[in-house]
Amino acid sequence: MRFDVLTLFPEMFSGYLGQSLLKRAVDAGIVNVQIHNIRDWAQGKHRQVDDRPFGGGPGMVLRPEPVVESVENVQQQGDRPGHLVLLTPQGRQLNQRIVEQLANHHRLLLICGRYEGIDQRAIDLMQPDEISIGDYILGGGEVAAMVVLDAVARLVPGVLGDEESNKQDSFSGDPPLLEFAQYTRPREYRGLQVPEVLMSGNHPDIARWREEQKLNRTRERRADLLGEDPAERRSDV
Ligand code: ADE
Repeated sequence: MRFDVLTLFPEMFSGYLGQSLLKRAVDAGIVNVQIHNIRDWAQGKHRQVDDRPFGGGPGMVLRPEPVVESVENVQQQGDRPGHLVLLTPQGRQLNQRIVEQLANHHRLLLICGRYEGIDQRAIDLMQPDEISIGDYILGGGEVAAMVVLDAVARLVPGVLGDEESNKQDSFSGDPPLLEFAQYTRPREYRGLQVPEVLMSGNHPDIARWREEQKLNRTRERRADLLGEDPAERRSDV
């Protein structure tokens, strides 16, 4: 699978791409990640990518030309244009179902917004799939693009190594359930024991215990995933 990221801050990706699970996948040739600097398509002596908003107001808006032209150019660099995603708090909210849909594409182009936003005409012309990673405002779309990249890449066959761990993950089933609690050695830590059933060697019992855990945890923590009213919860705010 190929990912193209269009950003004004390409350096932000080097740490992540140099360390993660993704690096292994890139080295193995399973995924191809290309980072592009939108500024390379800016015009004029000063290569200005942003400007003040018409109508007034704070902040700067990304001009349409470098955004549209970088996307058009990058699309031509592959053998297919790919699915265009714009990371923006105005988009539909990412979840595992959307991650699975995105992973069905052979190529994704991820556009990272900045400043107060992108000139609406660029969005109207390109009609990207607008995606938000949650109801909060980030400094830009870069961190959100890394979230999408990370979540989608681990669904690409061969990236995880152990394909089973995908299916066991939280949110992967229908209805999506949280994962069961995991334990490893030692058997006792500071007086806390590993649940007996996990040491029983009885695999049907273990499977039953895990299924129960998934359901109970989901009901306690995320009843909304089951279409139920959320349980009374202590509020942290
Ligand atoms: N850019 C700024 N905030 C964002 C968010 N919550 N999701 C995606 N892109 C963003």
